[in-house]
Amino acid sequence: MNFKEELEKYQQQINKELEKYIKKPKSPEETLNQAIAYTLMGGGKRLRPILVLATYQLFKQDIKKSIPYALAIEMLHNFSLIHDDLPGIDNDDVRHGKLTNHKKFNEATAILAGDALFNFAYNVMSEDLMHSQPEELNRKTKILNEFTKAVDRMIAGEYLDTEWEGRKITAEELKYIHENKTSSLLKLSVRMGAILANCTEEELNKVTNYANKIGLAFQIKDDILSEEGDESVLGKPVGNDKKLEKCTYVSQYGIQGAKDILNQITKEAVNELDTFGEKADFLKELAFYIENRNK
Ligand code: IPE
Ligand code: IPE
Ligand code: MG
Ligand code: MG
Repeated sequence: MNFKEELEKYQQQINKELEKYIKKPKSPEETLNQAIAYTLMGGGKRLRPILVLATYQLFKQDIKKSIPYALAIEMLHNFSLIHDDLPGIDNDDVRHGKLTNHKKFNEATAILAGDALFNFAYNVMSEDLMHSQPEELNRKTKILNEFTKAVDRMIAGEYLDTEWEGRKITAEELKYIHENKTSSLLKLSVRMGAILANCTEEELNKVTNYANKIGLAFQIKDDILSEEGDESVLGKPVGNDKKLEKCTYVSQYGIQGAKDILNQITKEAVNELDTFGEKADFLKELAFYIENRNK
């Protein structure tokens, strides 16, 4: 299997598993359930759950035990997207090439669909905990704790990203926003896969270094795409960071400066995985995919 086939296989597995969780029975809150499904099944790349599964597979073959955690992070991520698009935050009308949740439904429904996805993530993990072997509980409790801390950081990053619009900030402050709002969930994804697979402390450090770098790279690329992406491919507006006077790697370093930093940290991310040999090929390719993606 080449990289693209492997990526698509992971995406299909994740979509199939997520489908099982979409509530189907008729109920008075049917529209809320439609709003949840609208975003959750709306065409995301599934990068975070792929990181959980692929990191787990660096150490163990059968991905079954990592699936609930892959789904949980994708649910949490989709909550963050719905709220990020709200009028009080980025005020965006289009995501995944369709109307944003609050434009398709209404603001109250979008806020609550986000809340539901937030809770859904913890529900899926708690169900897994209930059916776990006693020897797995220590590791899974650690994961749950890291999950809550990463979400806390994501929220802090979103707060600063919004509050500091239009302000001149330092390079350190900019890095702080990106590490929190975006990198924290990517790092969590990688660490969840590694901890679930019971890797050594040294291995965990290596994959964490990789994750920190691709996490930052991912948001730098998002900044670049917001400047010069193709809206029809990207599925979300281009130029919105500029319009809102967001602090981004493009506003701080210029488009070429941002691209140079992206290229440098992608190389560094890949080097972090050298000790794993061929087994890490997919994760290495994934770093280049993040650097070169156009959506
Ligand atoms: C977008 O994330 C939000 C950021 C953290 C930059 P993704 O680009 O991973 O979103 P989807 O799920 O693939 O649409
Ligand atoms: C979104 O960041 C980060 C989170 C949702 C946590 P952005 O606002 O930069 O991402 P897009 O461009 O809307 O996807
Ligand atoms: Mg935002
Ligand atoms: Mg946004």
